[in-house]
Amino acid sequence: MTTRTGINGVRSVHFGLPNLEEATRFYEENWGLKAVSTSPDSVYLRGTGRDFYALALHRFKEPRLFHIDLSIESRQQADTLFASLRNSGVETTPTNGPLDDIGGGYGFSFRDPSEGRVFRVVAEPKQHSDYGSQRDLPGKISHIVLNSPDREAKFFVDQLGFRVIDQSKTITFLNCNSDHHSLALFISKSSSYNHLAFEMQDIDSVMSAAGSMTEAGYPIGWGVGRHGPCDNVFCYFVGPGGFIVEYTAEVQQVDETYKFKGPDEWGFPKGRRDQWGLARPTPAFHAPETSVPFSTALFGK
Ligand SMILES: [Fe+2]
Repeated sequence: MTTRTGINGVRSVHFGLPNLEEATRFYEENWGLKAVSTSPDSVYLRGTGRDFYALALHRFKEPRLFHIDLSIESRQQADTLFASLRNSGVETTPTNGPLDDIGGGYGFSFRDPSEGRVFRVVAEPKQHSDYGSQRDLPGKISHIVLNSPDREAKFFVDQLGFRVIDQSKTITFLNCNSDHHSLALFISKSSSYNHLAFEMQDIDSVMSAAGSMTEAGYPIGWGVGRHGPCDNVFCYFVGPGGFIVEYTAEVQQVDETYKFKGPDEWGFPKGRRDQWGLARPTPAFHAPETSVPFSTALFGK
C-alpha cells in the first residue's frame, strides 16, 4: 500500500536542543539507539532497522523540532512532487537533487504553507545491510505526532497524498504505508511537536525497555497501555529538552480495505484513556506535550 505521490514513511527526525551530551547519553545508553556519526554539534543515531539513522540531535540554544524526513519511493516521484509543490507556491529548496547528508539520498526540503513545519523528501537513501528487529531495542520510527489546529490535515492529504485513516475526538491519523499511521495531528490551538514513536519488536520489548528506563531513573510519563485507533501498545517518556518519545509495538497493519472511523465511533468509558485502563498520563507529562515549537529556520538549523 502506498500513496499516489510515492511518500511511504517517516524515515528520520531532527531535534535541536541545548544539551547535546545529555541527550546523546539518554538515547544511546538508555533508549537503545546507536550513534552512526558524531561531531561536536550533531549526533546521528540508528535503530536496529535499515534506515541509516532514525534520530538526529543538533546542538541549538532551545529545544526545537528542526525537520522531519519523509521517504519517497523513487527519484522520479521526488521530481514530480518537487514540481507540484512549487507550482502550488510551496516554499522549497531551490533544487531537487543529491542531498548533502550523512544518510545520502536524493530529494529536497519544503516548508508547509499553513504552519511552517519543515520536511525533507528523501529517495534512495543510504541503508544498513545489518538490520533486523532485536529484543528490547527500537527498530524504525513508527510515527510522529504534531500538535495542530488543522483537523482536516488538508495539506498532507491534498499535496502529499496521505490518507486520513481514522479520526478520534482529539487526533487525525494519517496513513502512507501498511502501518495504521505514520503521522498524526493532535488537535490543538497552536502548532508544535507532540511526540515521536519508535517501533519495538513486541509487547515484551516495550515492557522490559520501559522497565530499564525506569531503573535508569526516567519515570514513565504515560503507560504501559493500548491505544484505541491503531490498537498499538504504548509507553511514553519525557526525554531531554522536553521531547516526548514513545516505545510502541503491535501497530495495526492496514490495507485499502480498512474502513475509516470517525470521532463518534472512537471513545472509551468515562475516565479511561486507553483500552486497558491501567495507567493515566502523569502530571509531569502534560506540559512537554506542547512545549517544543518548530524551528523557524527554513531548512534545519
Ligand atoms: Fe504515538
